[in-house]
Order: sequence, then structure tokens, then C-alpha cells
Amino acid sequence: VEGDSRGPKGLRLLLLGAPGSGKGTQASALSSRLCVPAISTGEMLREAVAEGSELGERISGLLASGELVDDATMRQVVQRRLDKPDTERGFMLDGYPRTIDQAHALDEILSSSGEGLDAAIQIEVPEEELVRRALARRREDDREDIVRRRLAVYRDKTRPVAEFYRDRGLLVEVDGDQPIVRVTEAILSALGVAA
Ligand code: AP5
Repeated sequence: VEGDSRGPKGLRLLLLGAPGSGKGTQASALSSRLCVPAISTGEMLREAVAEGSELGERISGLLASGELVDDATMRQVVQRRLDKPDTERGFMLDGYPRTIDQAHALDEILSSSGEGLDAAIQIEVPEEELVRRALARRREDDREDIVRRRLAVYRDKTRPVAEFYRDRGLLVEVDGDQPIVRVTEAILSALGVAA
């Protein structure tokens, strides 16, 4: 990984980690540093709900309860976003894939354009710290019972996605229980980019 001096293809990165692990926070810090767009599926879905689109109406109940949106819908949402020209020089996906099915779907989306991933970054944070952060943030889906439901869904459906990328030699694990700038530095260092 050569950071800013990379060729025309740029970096294709995933940010994995439990709800509240700091994926969104790190995605925005890294996006400008690595010159790639940060793409948050959670953010896109919340926007759809706020706009009252057909998609938004269909998924608002799921988001409110901490359940996952179905894989077929997510595939469409991500495919459409990755078709936009700003991803030609790389991207950082925050919150996708969240199931093994989604990981296979992403493979298919990328292989149709002949691209592969450079790394899947797993941000590790202890569960009680995750709950503390979510409750401090007070987003609409940050009620304690919903936060705990999102964590259970994560353990069940999303945790195996990290193993999927470990098996491919793409997993980079980073300690997320430290100050935000230290987490950013740890990710850059793991990618071989000077902080
Ligand atoms: P999404 O928005 O992706 O929510 P999430 O995974 O629950 O992630 P969060 O946004 O809660 O946490 P984060 O890891 O981004 O942490 P953040 O930087 O915000 O998804 C929402 C919903 O959409 C899902 O529940 C699901 O329903 C649906 N969805 C999304 N993608 C989907 C998919 N692929 N398939 C199906 N459904 C999907 O940080 C959290 C807080 O901690 C902030 O207040 C921050 O300031 C603070 N913080 C961050 N880093 C640190 C640090 N190092 N030290 C102290 N505090 C910190």
C-alpha cells in the first residue's frame, strides 16, 4: 500500500466492527487522508428514511429495531453507489458487508469491474464501551435495548464476516479502545501509509 502515490486504481477498503466501534468516525478521518470517498450504508439508509422514499418507508421499522435490512436490498443500494464515478479511484465502505451473503455479493459486484479489495479493517472495542458510546451519542436507534439488539445481531451475523476476510489474508485488526487519533494512526500504519 503506497497511500497518496498509488496508481489510478487507488485503495478499496472495508471498515468492519461492532456498532459504536468507530467505523464512521474513522471513515471520515481516513477518507480525506487516503483520497477515497467514505461510504456508510447506515448513513444512506437513514437518509432514505428521512426522505420518505419507497426504500425508506420499507426499512424504517428495521432500522428502528436494530435489525438488518435484507441482503438483496443492500446489494442494490451498494451496487448503485459503487457505480458512481467517484469510486473509480477507490473507496472506503463502512458497514457493508454485514453478512456472509453480502460478502459474496460484494465479490460479485467488484469482479464485474475487475476489481479486488486491498484490506478489511476490523476495529475491536469491548462490549461495555460500545454500549457506553452509543448511549452517550443518543441517535434515534441508540436506546439501550436496541443497542443491545444491534450487538447481538452483530455477534450472530456480522462477526463471521471478519473470519471470511481473515481466510483471504485481507483482515487487519486494530485496537479501537484508544483515543480517536491513535486509532487512525494504527490503521494508517497497518496499511503502510505514513500518518
Ligand atoms: P450503521 O449506521 O452502520 O450503525 P452501526 O454499525 O450500528 O454503527 P454506528 O454508526 O452505531 O457505529 P460506528 O462503528 O460507525 O461508530 P461511530 O463512529 O458512529 O447502521 C445502522 C443500521 O442500518 C443497522 O442497525 C441496520 O439496521 C442498517 N444497516 C446498515 N448497514 C447495513 C447492511 N450492510 N446490511 C443490513 N443492514 C444494514 O462512533 C460511535 C460513537 O463513539 C460516536 O459518538 C463517536 O464519537 C464515539 N467514538 C468513536 N471512536 C471513539 C474512540 N476511539 N473513543 C471514544 N469515543 C469514540
